[in-house]
Amino acid sequence: MKRYRKTIVIMTVLLSITTFSIVARDKKQENEFKNLQVYPKNVSAERLNRDMELFSRALGVDCGYCHPGGMWTVTDYAADGGHKEEARTMMRMTNELNEKYFGVDLKKPNPDQVMTCYTCHRGEEYPVIPWDTANVKPGNVKPMKISPFHN
Ligand code: HEC
Ligand code: HEC
Repeated sequence: MKRYRKTIVIMTVLLSITTFSIVARDKKQENEFKNLQVYPKNVSAERLNRDMELFSRALGVDCGYCHPGGMWTVTDYAADGGHKEEARTMMRMTNELNEKYFGVDLKKPNPDQVMTCYTCHRGEEYPVIPWDTANVKPGNVKPMKISPFHN
């Protein structure tokens, strides 16, 4: 009986050490990002990585479009440059649309967003205006000159 008790104590100690190190590792993983200005500081690596994949697909670009360093060769994801700042503005806008107009709770670890980058971008760097479906004649309407890409 005494021997069993000893075993149980040892098992309990081992189990708590394991649990503690798993929790500690998770905490560390949640804080590994260095330069987040829009995401909450404790955003999970899982959510951030999934979003980055979605951003890329929504705009039809690769990571190097927003992160400085060039196509497929980004070395420092925390560095600013590229189209990162514009993307931050877009994130703030999308967050506001979700929160203010669709009542999405963005404080949840994995919020169910109604508006995403894809809602507007549909795989394009600049959302396309389908003139043929709009009730206007292309010749009568000048496209908005808001970016060098429209020229
Ligand atoms: C449309 C622009 C865009 C694309 C494409 C994009 N990112 Fe990002 N990424 C951002 C923005 C903006 C932030 C900063 C968010 C913030 O400030 O809260 C960021 C932050 C990150 C971070 C956190 C860096 C840190 O330590 O602060 C990582 C890692 C990252 N991106 C990886 C990727 C990977 C991998 C890809 C390709 C699969 C990718 N990103 C594609 C815009 C983009
Ligand atoms: C409500 C519609 C809408 C949503 C949602 C949206 N965008 Fe945009 N985005 C636009 C429009 C419109 C433009 C083109 C603006 C222009 O022509 O100057 C644009 C342009 C951009 C650009 C290029 C800006 C530049 O000049 O470099 C980036 C990068 C971008 N969006 C990223 C994102 C990301 C990332 C998300 C999701 C977090 C997002 N957008 C969500 C409408 C949207």
